[in-house]
Amino acid sequence: MTTTQLHRLLYRSEQTNIFQEIDLQKILNTARDKNAARAVTGLLISRGLFFLQLLEGNAEHVVETFYRIKQDARHKNVEVIVNEEAASRVFPNWSMGLIDDTSSSFSIPEMLKTIDSILMQKEKKSNVKIVEILRVFSMKIKN
Ligand SMILES: Cc1cc2nc3c(=O)[nH]c(=O)nc-3n(C[C@H](O)[C@H](O)[C@H](O)COP(=O)(O)O)c2cc1C
Repeated sequence: MTTTQLHRLLYRSEQTNIFQEIDLQKILNTARDKNAARAVTGLLISRGLFFLQLLEGNAEHVVETFYRIKQDARHKNVEVIVNEEAASRVFPNWSMGLIDDTSSSFSIPEMLKTIDSILMQKEKKSNVKIVEILRVFSMKIKN
């Protein structure tokens, strides 16, 4: 039996010193190809030295993709924040969306504050809250 259960995984990590700016575009290109082939969707936020990434899709594909990413030497201290079954996707149309420090989305003060609090882990929010926040952001980003 193949499992078609929809799964989501959100993690945070930190750049290592081998990471270079040009890597972000390389990562994005690879991510978009590989994720599209596996129907994995999500969002990558690059904020200062930190990454926050949401992966969603078939459970096996999400886990396989995450373990591949986790081994990448361009980041470290990979910490899973949310790892759960999902009823629906937050980013059904994005094989991997990107928000970086140059994105206008970061000019939404509420968004910046929330992202920073998740990244710095100053504030522990429930999984439901974090996913709902990302869902609200996904609508704001698209508009
Ligand atoms: C922050 C970060 C996010 C990444 N996101 C993805 C992703 O969503 N999908 C993906 O296939 N690879 C992603 N990568 C790249 C993988 O780590 C890996 O380099 C790539 O999948 C190629 O793997 P391979 O050489 O084993 O084929 C990411 C890397 C980093 C550092």
